[in-house]
Amino acid sequence: MAAIAPQVCLEVRQIKKFFGDRSVLRDVSFSLEKGEILGLIGPNGAGKTTLFNIISGWQKPASGSVVFCGQETTAWPPDRLSRAGLARTFQSPQIFPEMTALENVLMGAWLQRQRPPLPEAQEEAGYCLSLVGLMDKGPTLAGELPLPQQRLVELARALATRPRLLLLDEIAAGFSQVALNRLAAGLLKLRDQGLTLLLTDHLFTLLEAVTDRVLALDHGEIIAQGPPAALIRDPAVVSAYLGTRYCIINHGGA
Ligand SMILES: Nc1ncnc2c1ncn2[C@@H]1O[C@H](COP(=O)(O)OP(=O)(O)OP(=O)(O)O)[C@@H](O)[C@H]1O
Ligand SMILES: [Mg+2]
Repeated sequence: MAAIAPQVCLEVRQIKKFFGDRSVLRDVSFSLEKGEILGLIGPNGAGKTTLFNIISGWQKPASGSVVFCGQETTAWPPDRLSRAGLARTFQSPQIFPEMTALENVLMGAWLQRQRPPLPEAQEEAGYCLSLVGLMDKGPTLAGELPLPQQRLVELARALATRPRLLLLDEIAAGFSQVALNRLAAGLLKLRDQGLTLLLTDHLFTLLEAVTDRVLALDHGEIIAQGPPAALIRDPAVVSAYLGTRYCIINHGGA
């Protein structure tokens, strides 16, 4: 394996994925530098979540490799990747609905760091809830929160694992403009503290506000990449979105 530069956080090399006969990812390659915020866009079914699943160990590619912080991690299970500093949120939030918001976040704080003393983990979990603006929701059952807040609980749980790389799969779906602005400011602050981010969202305004660079995926292939303002004018990207319910040119959301 060729040596990679130390500033590279993630390297995705020629990933191929099939579901049955269907080719879902076709030779996807890109790299992500430490401290970068990289966006990923693409119409429904383009393969964005599948790519996230492969990077985070939930699915295995047919071929190709994933290198995280200089280690080949393609075959690693999700929990090992999580302990190594890779956290993610899911398109459908994977929270524990019968547990409180604080207990959900506590799971992240407690499991990842060799089970620290409970008060210490509770303090960390409370801090992470405050980071996402849910400090007053700690005692609320997570399943009783509206969906956008469940997404934030999942984000807080991911942050409680103290990740180096965070993947966000449509975290902003259903957010109000105020919540979106708060999220964007929060993500930029986390980046300033050293976090590297890869996020996909149909709300292009979020990507425009936070990303340095965006990749466009269509039918499992990267068809364009560049700064967000330039990317949405790329003819290949415009064409990929024509006829879909998402109009990125008008910055419309879901
Ligand atoms: N477990 C699976 N088994 C079979 N097909 C799957 C599976 N997961 C995803 N697919 C198919 O693979 C393709 C890519 O799906 P994926 O969920 O990665 O797309 P996406 O870009 O995340 O779409 P969306 O914007 O709707 O979230 C789709 O056609 C989807 O139906
Ligand atoms: Mg998806």
